[in-house]
Amino acid sequence: MNKKFIMNTYSRFDVTFDYGKGCFLYDTNGKKYIDFASGIAVNSLGYGCKKIENTILNQSKKLLHCSNLYWSEPQIELAQKLCNNSSFDKAFFCNSGAEANEAALKLAKIYAKKNKGDNCTKFIAFKNSFHGRTIGALSLTGQDKYQKNFTPLMSEVKFAAYNDINSLKECLDKNVCAIFLEPIQGEGGIIPAKEEFLKEVRKICTENDIALIFDEVQCGMGRCGKLFAHQIYNINPDIVTLAKAIGGGIPMGAMLANDKFASSFGIGDHASTFGGNLLACACANVVVDEILNTNLLKNVAQMSAYFCEKLNKLKEKYSFIKDVRGLGLMLGMELDINPKDVVNNAFKEGLLILSAGSSVVRFVPPLIIDKKVADEGFFILEKVFKNIKGE
Ligand SMILES: Cc1ncc(COP(=O)(O)O)c(C=O)c1O
Repeated sequence: MNKKFIMNTYSRFDVTFDYGKGCFLYDTNGKKYIDFASGIAVNSLGYGCKKIENTILNQSKKLLHCSNLYWSEPQIELAQKLCNNSSFDKAFFCNSGAEANEAALKLAKIYAKKNKGDNCTKFIAFKNSFHGRTIGALSLTGQDKYQKNFTPLMSEVKFAAYNDINSLKECLDKNVCAIFLEPIQGEGGIIPAKEEFLKEVRKICTENDIALIFDEVQCGMGRCGKLFAHQIYNINPDIVTLAKAIGGGIPMGAMLANDKFASSFGIGDHASTFGGNLLACACANVVVDEILNTNLLKNVAQMSAYFCEKLNKLKEKYSFIKDVRGLGLMLGMELDINPKDVVNNAFKEGLLILSAGSSVVRFVPPLIIDKKVADEGFFILEKVFKNIKGE
């Protein structure tokens, strides 16, 4: 097989994975890897989940796809489940995080056009954010390294400093239609929003009839300890975007909105050929059921405490670890060495972890992880730190 036919957009590790089991991945040579990365926060139920396997098998025997010109039971069931367990009233399904954010951009715009006039087309997003790679989502992404080769982007986006209400206020004017934020910045370096900040943002949005949009593509679907990350803060956005973990490994995205905003979309205003097809929705129903009806969230809470304890112990031992932070099983370690060195050395030893931003190592293991597997991973991590320190 010749790799030259794959377009050159990823810096890939020198490995080809073959299969997975629980929290372990195996490469084509049979080498085992402990997974603290979950395919970048996707594989929350781990590998070889029987319920997902059976759902894929059964759904494939019935119907994989039929178009949104027709109704499908898995889609109706999923929308109802997500809305019944949140403050939202309506769901739109798509295929990825960037697409979910595009849908949210369009919904905020059409609401403002209909209710606030043609000039109300500005967005506020945050420095250090990540919302995806399509032109709209990239326009909201407050990191020059992702934007610089693709300008001009959408011109109507202003960037405020995250967790800084005064900076946000400086960006406000009567033509702002939406404020877009990650309740926990992921790619930017695992930075949780402050509760007071989110409360203030909510207040500003309500008072000025601005759509508050939370991007929970990475931090949602149980990863932070509740179905939605904003439920931890007890603050309801008007619109939320989801993807990654929601499909249990099948590509899937969603945008949920309250009726005030959702009712602005009419027939033909937005669409997606594959969005919410039967297979993706059947799998997403399994994921949501696992989050709502099993001990999964209890495990997230227990394992979050265990990871934090382990990470903080490492911080006490190694002075190059500056901070340990995050929520649930979305955790980060700020380093004053290059996190890529840690990630690369861990990989060689059989542990998959991720970097985030320029100084953070990120831990987003499957939500089913237990202490035994965590210990195996932390054994490798400590070995890597010892080598870096020259012990
Ligand atoms: C917070 C956030 N939003 C959006 C995206 C884009 O998602 P996708 O790659 O599925 O388009 C990501 C991907 O990492 C993300 O972390």
